Amino acid sequence: MPGPLPIGLSWEGSFPKFRNFDPNKSWHAYVHVPFCEVRCGYCDFNTYTAEEVQGVKRSEFDQSLTEEIQLAAESLKSQEITSKSFQTVFFGGGTPSLFSPAQISRVLAGLGKNFGIKDDAELTMELNPDTVDEDYLQQLAELGINRVSIGAQSFDPEVLKVLDRTHKPENVELAVDWAKKAGLQVSLDLIYGAPGESLESWRKSLHRALSMNPDHLSAYALIVEQGTKLARQISKGVYPEPDDDLMADKYALLEEMTSQSGLNWYELSNFSRGEGTKSVHNSGYWKSNYWYGFGPGSHSFIGDVRFWNRKHPAAYSDSLAKGLPIQAYELIDEQDHLQERLLLEIRMSDGIDPDLIQKLSISDQALEEQIKFGYFKELDGNFVLTLKGRQMADRVVLNLLN
Ligand SMILES: C[S@@+](CC[C@H](N)C(=O)[O-])C[C@H]1O[C@@H](n2cnc3c(N)ncnc32)[C@H](O)[C@@H]1O
Ligand code: SF4
Repeated sequence: MPGPLPIGLSWEGSFPKFRNFDPNKSWHAYVHVPFCEVRCGYCDFNTYTAEEVQGVKRSEFDQSLTEEIQLAAESLKSQEITSKSFQTVFFGGGTPSLFSPAQISRVLAGLGKNFGIKDDAELTMELNPDTVDEDYLQQLAELGINRVSIGAQSFDPEVLKVLDRTHKPENVELAVDWAKKAGLQVSLDLIYGAPGESLESWRKSLHRALSMNPDHLSAYALIVEQGTKLARQISKGVYPEPDDDLMADKYALLEEMTSQSGLNWYELSNFSRGEGTKSVHNSGYWKSNYWYGFGPGSHSFIGDVRFWNRKHPAAYSDSLAKGLPIQAYELIDEQDHLQERLLLEIRMSDGIDPDLIQKLSISDQALEEQIKFGYFKELDGNFVLTLKGRQMADRVVLNLLN
């Protein structure tokens, strides 16, 4: 989870009342594994490179996670909240592939015993291509993991160097082969817009990623996060600032090349081969279903309450001795919730439905203007961003709300 946590209301040891709880929503679990072998220069995720962080050992960290899972289920029951079996489980990080199969298995068992996991659940794990081999992926598949998301980022060795990645492009190809052999669905993560990356370099990276025939692709525009090594290098002039026009050209090329290989956008940064290959987990977030985030710094959302855990693994583990490791919470009022829905739903190929537009009191004039500028088009009654709109989605949101 990038960036600092919000401030919120202080946690008094038990859940506040969950108003507007909707029993029809699906439930999704996120499990944060806060360890990496090396920190990449651009990344500000909540992750640590030592095997032991202030007394918290990576090799034992699954115990803390399973304690939290059990406490969470008991606490929800005591608030008379009927949780549902999870529709998805997502192991994210950090680098969850630094956990052994036995650790993953114990966490899955904890989720299954305390909440339940649906028979047809999507079980995803993020992989760093440096940390896996054929046997590991086979073992994951045997545990029920059915989807992997592999951090490829780029296939240009120069760009990988700027990003401080330690893997070679060939490692990604091996990981994809092994994952496919194990019967896992494969998603690749790419980043575009690194300093020095030309349009040609991006074209080659895309070509190489697509030639592996992934089921799914996530491609993110590089965010230069404050406080990272990359931000310091840019401010010292070692590297140039990302160029917005070049970013927009790279997005257009991304859409062109993905659609030529049968991967279509269904969320601004996400491309799939159709219904069975979209990320059910991320769609759960984007459609405001309920999610419980386990592990340091993880966020959860149930009813109209968003809450988040202590960020540092040591603070997280210490507070588990006294109860849930929650740091703070906020109550989301109807208006905030509607605006958040707009921010998320506008990014999706289903578009925004007229009901949301009406609830947000967006005027016909504001909407028509966006259509006239070529940012929006009407599709089956919903309003969907055009390519031009997708290249500046945040601006379109502002135009609609102001
Ligand atoms: C937790 S990482 C994926 C797994 C593994 N840790 C790895 O990097 O190989 C999640 C993804 O977030 C994306 N990401 C991280 N920091 C980013 C940034 N500053 N800008 C854009 N994307 C970023 C990367 O594409 C990365 O693959
Ligand atoms: S391996 Fe992934 S989570 Fe770890 S520092 Fe690099 S991008 Fe961030």
